[in-house]
Amino acid sequence: MDIALFGFGCVGQGLYDALGQSHGFKAGIQKIGVKDRHKPRKIALDHFSFDRHEILGRSDIQAIVELVDNAEDALDIVRTAMQRGLHVVSANKKLLAEHFSTLFQLQQDKGVALLYEGACAGSIPIIRNLEEYYDTETLRSISGIINGSSNYILTRMDKDGLDYHTALAQAQELGFAEIDPWLDVAGFDPKYKLVLLVVHAFGVIFKPEAVLNLGIQNISAFDIEHAALKGQRIKLVAYAAQHGNQLQAYVLPRLVGHESNLVNIDNEYNAVEIEGAFSGKQLLVGKGAGSYPTGAAVLSDVAALSHQYRYEYKKLHQNIAANGHGLHELHTDFTLRLYIRYTHETELALLDIKETIEQYTSPRAKYLIAEVGFASLYALQGKENKLFVAVV
Ligand code: HSE
Repeated sequence: MDIALFGFGCVGQGLYDALGQSHGFKAGIQKIGVKDRHKPRKIALDHFSFDRHEILGRSDIQAIVELVDNAEDALDIVRTAMQRGLHVVSANKKLLAEHFSTLFQLQQDKGVALLYEGACAGSIPIIRNLEEYYDTETLRSISGIINGSSNYILTRMDKDGLDYHTALAQAQELGFAEIDPWLDVAGFDPKYKLVLLVVHAFGVIFKPEAVLNLGIQNISAFDIEHAALKGQRIKLVAYAAQHGNQLQAYVLPRLVGHESNLVNIDNEYNAVEIEGAFSGKQLLVGKGAGSYPTGAAVLSDVAALSHQYRYEYKKLHQNIAANGHGLHELHTDFTLRLYIRYTHETELALLDIKETIEQYTSPRAKYLIAEVGFASLYALQGKENKLFVAVV
C-alpha cells in the first residue's frame, strides 16, 4: 500500500510514528504534503512536497491521508483525490460533517472508499462497530463524551481546582485541542462527531447547523462545586436518540451522578454508550484525543483500505430507498430540565421557561433549575452571554 499524507501536525506525526512501529502492517508514505517550507521538521526535508497537485497527480499512490488544518485546503484535497480515483482516510470531523452529502455521493460515483475512524472519539473504534456489528440492529440511542479537551478541562477543574483558562492551556499543550479551541469548548467538535455517528447509527444525515451545541465555555468553579454538593459531576455529553419517527440530537453539558457510566470518564478519555433494541446498553471507552491515539485510529483505517474495506452505509441506503435522500428532520418540540446559572435576569428572557423547580440567589451566584423548551436553546448558540446551562 503506497500513500501520500497531507498534514504533518499532531495527528500526522502520530500516524507516522505508529506506522513506523507497526509490525503487522506496512505502508509506504511516498510524500507528505505540507504548506510551510520554513517550519522545522523532525524528518528529512525530502519527505515533503509543497505542491498538493503534484502529489495528487502521482501514479505511485493508491490512497491519501488527509490531516490538514485549513478547511478549504482539506476539502479541495479530499475532493480532488476522490475524483482521481484515490481512496481517502481523513480525521477531519468538521470537513466530513459539513460536506457529508457531497462526500458520500463522491464515494458512490467514483467507487472509492472514504474512511474516518480517527475523526470520531479518537482511538475508540466506533464507526466500524456501528458499520459492522450494529448494522442490522435498530438502535435507540448513541451518546457520550466525545471531546477530549473539554473532558480534560472539566476533570482538572474538578480534581485539581484549576481555573478554566489554565486547564484549557494544558489541553492545548498536550495536543488535545483544536487549533481553534473554541470548537472544543463551545461543543462544535463533538457536534461534528455526533453528525457522523448519527449517519452510521441511524442512517440519517443532519446538517451540523441544525444540531444544537452548547459548551462549557462559561463554566465556573461554582458550577463544579454545585454538582459536587449533589454528588454529581459535569460532563459535556453528545446525545442522539430515536423518539417515534424522529430523532433528538444535541450536545449539552450534563450533571451526571454515580448511576451514570460517564461519571468516571476523565481527562482526554472518551466514552460512547450505544443502546440497541436487542443488545441493550454497551459502553466503549478509550483515549479520545492526542497524537498517538488518533494516529492509531488513522493507521487502522489505512490498513483497512489495504484489504479493500469501505463503509457500506446500510442504514443510510435503507433510508434513501424509503425517502429519496436520507436527510431528516430533527425533533425539537420537547422540554429539558436544566441547571441555568446566570448573572442578570435579562439573560433568561431568551429561554422558554415552562416551570421553575428551584431558584437560588447568593452574592456569589444565581441559578435556576427549570423545565425549558428545547427549541429556545438555539437562541443561546453563538451568542455572547454568560449563561452556563447543563441538563440535570
Ligand atoms: N480536539 C479534539 C478533542 C481532538 O479534544 O476531542 C480529537 O478529535
